[in-house]
Amino acid sequence: MATPQHEGSGGRAVSESLTVTDNRTGRTYEIPLEDGHIRALELRQIKISDADFGLMAYDPAFMNTASCRSAVTYLDGERGVLEYRGYPIEQLAEQSTYLEVAYLLIFGELPTAAELEDWTHKITTHTFVHENVKRYMQGFRHDAHPMGMLLGSVGALSTFYPDANEIQDRHNREIQTIRLIAKMPTLAAFAYRHVRGQPYVYPVNHLTYCGNLLSMLYKMTEVNYEPDPRLAHALDVLFILHADHEQNCSTSAVRTVGSSRVDPYTAISAGIGALYGPLHGGANESVLRMLRRIGTRENIPAFVAGVKEGKELLMGFGHRVYKNFDPRATIIKKACEDVFAVTGRNPLLDIAIELAEIALEDEYFISRKLYPNVDFYSGLIYEALGLPDTMFPVMFAIARTSGWIAQWLELVQDPEQKITRPRQVYTGQRERAYLPVDQR
Ligand code: CMC
Repeated sequence: MATPQHEGSGGRAVSESLTVTDNRTGRTYEIPLEDGHIRALELRQIKISDADFGLMAYDPAFMNTASCRSAVTYLDGERGVLEYRGYPIEQLAEQSTYLEVAYLLIFGELPTAAELEDWTHKITTHTFVHENVKRYMQGFRHDAHPMGMLLGSVGALSTFYPDANEIQDRHNREIQTIRLIAKMPTLAAFAYRHVRGQPYVYPVNHLTYCGNLLSMLYKMTEVNYEPDPRLAHALDVLFILHADHEQNCSTSAVRTVGSSRVDPYTAISAGIGALYGPLHGGANESVLRMLRRIGTRENIPAFVAGVKEGKELLMGFGHRVYKNFDPRATIIKKACEDVFAVTGRNPLLDIAIELAEIALEDEYFISRKLYPNVDFYSGLIYEALGLPDTMFPVMFAIARTSGWIAQWLELVQDPEQKITRPRQVYTGQRERAYLPVDQR
């Protein structure tokens, strides 16, 4: 088989391939490399007979399988590098805003001043939801988990915008993109107010994206709610950190469901479902419960011993990709201090810091390359803002919406993509004769 030519690092055309020998047959195959990787379908030619289906790769949890080519987010887990469209997360967290980052993720470039103004205007003026969406949310039980409410209401938006299934139309995709980013804080805040039994607060246009979210969460009888700009800024930084994280569980869910060419509301509600789980976006909720259960610094050693015995996980530690440190955790630790300067210090932070220090010096965590991830600290900020644990993954979902959309847009415009349909290694029985019930 011919090997393709592609550009080497010095601009030279190089051909790269693997030579694979099948020891079952003695046959040798030349498998081309593209960008340093093999196409899994190339394995299919490796057969022991014409009737053989051909070789497949078995990869539960996709530990070593790339499902797409993506130009959105670069992540180097060994070196702790995270870049959106090539811009380091540290610079974006320091100098940008969430809406600007959302634009960058979605359109691929930082906006000009005029583009940013137009984008901000469009997002700001699409924050309202249909009154029937509000009534739909009011139908949930008084103690409904707000993440379940968000999941349901985002899915329900597809019924309010039936044209959203015209996903091949660029203009249509752009409208749904704006609606999703604009309405997500509104739905999240409505869910919060619902659980508290408080009237839903409508969006206002004179506040920033995060300022308006704080207003919808906390406004009571004031005529004009003025959010503390330091808190709005800390939330904005948190949202930047959570905006995208390449092919994680929820993004893969969005891509998988989106590959059926369903509308983006339905695809993103699938992402919210994936994010809900305690190993993903639900981790920040679990971290706070864990810290409260530990209660005092004296209890930390016994807790860590229990984790090492395999009784439970140290929530907020470990990552599938980051194996040295999570760059987001470093930035968020600083944001924690900024928020506590306004709200007062959360005593759980001291437990968290000591817990991290003990774990980082312990052989169990060192040998497994387990470090604090972004969710080890994010819950502390949300709690300082007065949010209950159940709202933590909801806040994560608001921020991740821009990343989900950027990835979904890439998917629907990628000519190589098809409906997602993994293969399986069948391990069950075959060709059994049906037995009528009286003979079993
Ligand atoms: N506490 C204790 N042990 C752990 C932890 C932990 N948090 N995480 C992994 N391990 C152990 C695990 O038991 C295994 O040990 P052994 O080799 O003895 O069996 C080893 O470390 C490797 O772990 P793994 O489960 O194979 O790693 P993974 O890549 O499949 O899982 C993870 C990654 C994030 C799901 C996992 O580290 C975890 O469950 N962490 C706690 C939940 C959490 O904080 N999730 C948030 C992730 S960051 C935000 C996001 O992306 O949503």
